[in-house]
Amino acid sequence: MVLTHSVGVRNSGSQYLPSTADTSETRSPNQQLLPLTARINSQDCLEIGGCDVTALVGQFGSPLYILDEETLRTACSQYRDAFKRYYPGSSQAVYASKAWNCLAICAIAASEGLGVEVVSGGELYTAIQAGVNRELLYFHGNNKSRAELEFAVESGCTIVVDNWLELKTLALLGSASNSQSPIPIMLRLTPGIECHTHEYIRTGHLDSKFGFDPNQVEEVFAFISQTTSLNCVGLHAHIGSQIFELQPHRDLAGVMVQWLDKAASLGLPVTRLNIGGGLGIRYTEADDPPSIEEWVKTVSESVAAACQAQQVPLPTLMCEPGRSLVGPTCVTAYTLGSRKEVPEIRTYLAVDGGMSDNPRPITYQSVYRAVVANRMSAPLTETVTIAGLHCESGDILIKDIQLPQTEPGDILVVMSTGAYNYSMASNYNRVPRPAAVLVKDGEAKVILQRETYQDLVRQDRLPERLKLSS
Ligand code: LLP
Repeated sequence: MVLTHSVGVRNSGSQYLPSTADTSETRSPNQQLLPLTARINSQDCLEIGGCDVTALVGQFGSPLYILDEETLRTACSQYRDAFKRYYPGSSQAVYASKAWNCLAICAIAASEGLGVEVVSGGELYTAIQAGVNRELLYFHGNNKSRAELEFAVESGCTIVVDNWLELKTLALLGSASNSQSPIPIMLRLTPGIECHTHEYIRTGHLDSKFGFDPNQVEEVFAFISQTTSLNCVGLHAHIGSQIFELQPHRDLAGVMVQWLDKAASLGLPVTRLNIGGGLGIRYTEADDPPSIEEWVKTVSESVAAACQAQQVPLPTLMCEPGRSLVGPTCVTAYTLGSRKEVPEIRTYLAVDGGMSDNPRPITYQSVYRAVVANRMSAPLTETVTIAGLHCESGDILIKDIQLPQTEPGDILVVMSTGAYNYSMASNYNRVPRPAAVLVKDGEAKVILQRETYQDLVRQDRLPERLKLSS
């Protein structure tokens, strides 16, 4: 296809700055493309958390994940406070740490009063190392190993049971242990609710690998009610991710409250209801997700109304957002390198990262936006395609984006990269993973160190007979 590159002269970076119409308490981070503290300084450079992005790259290297603490704390408090405002019972927001599991982020979420949800022994270990209280730790996964289950039981977290094998293994572990108290569990159920998002990140429809099928629910409840080594404290469901609609969440509330009722009638008075995560975020100006407050209001009112209609006592209402907490808090800064012009077709600008630090475009065809951090007010004069450095033609971060005239060495900032970027990063082509810094009030702290070449060979072993004589 031949692309014509006629681009109107527009101001570049300022169009993406968070709106100043609302106060910082009411601006929902998931509706912004840049973190809440983003501004353009007198040198026409992008600043986040009071730090000049170009200077951060100079100090900490490139590529660099830059995470804004204020935006993350605001998102956490918006979930927490909206539940208090709209739900008449008790509530607990839990951070789905698969979106970005590391010590600093787990610690910030916990310090804001959120629980932390983990999906592997590694995530559980990290959350424990971060000091997260075991009462607020939830362990998910559709195929937890016996070793992971033993680790989870020992840690005292609540295990969200996904299937029969796990349920029976836990019942045995519970009766074999010397502990007097039963193992706290929740049950993950497949609600049979469809939502409009990428098929890889849909989980609530019946043909899903996660959770107990609804036709097994009665049998599962009956099993648990006769198993003294297990204490079922709640029910859980999650319908998918990057969802902009509210209706599936209303439907979910109705379905889950029916299950609560059924559990109670089978002698299992569960008291917590976790409606999962899934609220979408803005990756481009075309994305228009509901705010955190609207989402919480909808699920709170729907659960309360369903409980009233079905005469079920109000459960503790839980949710577990990932993307909408960390996604908008972070940008990735890259240094621009080579340029290739294919006449009449396309201009490629290459950056010093790509699918290894952000696998989402190649995996889900995700679309991102970017600005040139050291030319924030320069007019947009060309359409380019941002290529990664990996040996793969599909390693394209952004197709056909309007940018100002750039030079090698300029700093390109890709926005909304906090969720499922670092956590899905790889060392493809033996490229070291970038560093991440946390910015706040003009100060930057490293929260993830840049990997070195030594890190890359740390787990390699060279059997004696393969050693080459020099
Ligand atoms: N709870 C459960 C059980 C989940 O499976 C997930 C996400 C969440 C909560 C958090 O959902 P969120 O609020 O982040 O939408 N790698 C994909 C996303 C996979 C989502 C997996 N589960 C991506 O990059 O889009």
